[in-house]
Amino acid sequence: MKPADNLRFTKLPLANGSGAIPALGFGTLIPDPVATKNATKAALEAGFRALDTAERYRTEKEVGEAMREVFQAGKIKREEVFVATKLWNTNHRPERVKPAFEASLKKLQLDYLDLYLIHTPFAFQPGDVQDPRDANGNVIYDRGVTLLDTWGALEKLVDEGKCKAIGLSDIGLEKLKEIFEAATIKPAVVHVESHPYLPEWDLLDYCRKNGIVLQAFAALGHSSEPNLLADPVITAIADRVGKTPAQVALAWGIQRGTALLTTTKTPSRIAENFEVSTLPENAMREINEGVKSRIRFNAVVETGIPGFIPREK
Ligand SMILES: NC(=O)c1ccc[n+]([C@@H]2O[C@H](COP(=O)([O-])OP(=O)(O)OC[C@H]3O[C@@H](n4cnc5c(N)ncnc54)[C@H](OP(=O)(O)O)[C@@H]3O)[C@@H](O)[C@H]2O)c1
Repeated sequence: MKPADNLRFTKLPLANGSGAIPALGFGTLIPDPVATKNATKAALEAGFRALDTAERYRTEKEVGEAMREVFQAGKIKREEVFVATKLWNTNHRPERVKPAFEASLKKLQLDYLDLYLIHTPFAFQPGDVQDPRDANGNVIYDRGVTLLDTWGALEKLVDEGKCKAIGLSDIGLEKLKEIFEAATIKPAVVHVESHPYLPEWDLLDYCRKNGIVLQAFAALGHSSEPNLLADPVITAIADRVGKTPAQVALAWGIQRGTALLTTTKTPSRIAENFEVSTLPENAMREINEGVKSRIRFNAVVETGIPGFIPREK
């Protein structure tokens, strides 16, 4: 296989926050706690320097343990890793934001965060039940708080120095514009599903013009059907450049100027996903123009209900 170049070390400066986010990040939405911890450690050891977790994934504790062990071994310093987590929908009331943030920090065994995201723009009934439902099984939303109220509480966390940047996840362009225009501290990162089947060019264009980094999740299509990694345009490029389809999809994301997240519990794939190389211009053009499918795999953006996380019993 063709050796990796410096593309994997790309960092994107956060114009609306401080520091820079590594473009190639590792997500930790892995259902099994032991697998989460092992994969997170392996990802750090393989070279990943951006980690993504969330209160809702219930993986913060394992991610914290993995980081602690790697930091204690002296191989990597805390400051070298960009750590992001997310505020869940049941904690949108401003008075619930700081306690939720501090609970996340504690589980992660950290004293500051690089990025705190509002997980979705949808507020659910406040409380300890993460998936509150009525007798008919419908989600109970909280109409008593606006996204801007919640954003204001996140701005305070930045002011207090506990968090270097704040952002929004699972948000569409119209809602993003509203928050961007009203915010005192502008969103540094917008974290949304994006891959060659969902390039989100309009959102990316707005983000570029306003100094926002777009961080793509499901960068490999989340192993969903139709399988992005079996797309004939992607596989033909992979064969031609001597890389795997996953490495092609990841390189495409970095080269078009986004940060992205990939996740795997499989050790060989952790190494594979970090060994990306720059694609030639014609390959970028072939993906941009030749991949015609448009598919959203995760409907969370429409309801706030996670598409990739099993429902609580
Ligand atoms: N804000 C949100 O609403 C939201 C929603 C979803 C995800 N996220 C974040 O984004 C992260 C990434 O999303 P994702 O899990 O959908 O990422 P993804 O990388 O698109 O999909 C992960 C799936 O791809 C497989 N895979 C990984 N590398 C591969 C390779 N080289 N070849 C073939 N298959 C490969 C994995 O399988 P194995 O594990 O079996 O190897 C896993 O099933 C999550 O962990 C989470 O942090 C955020």
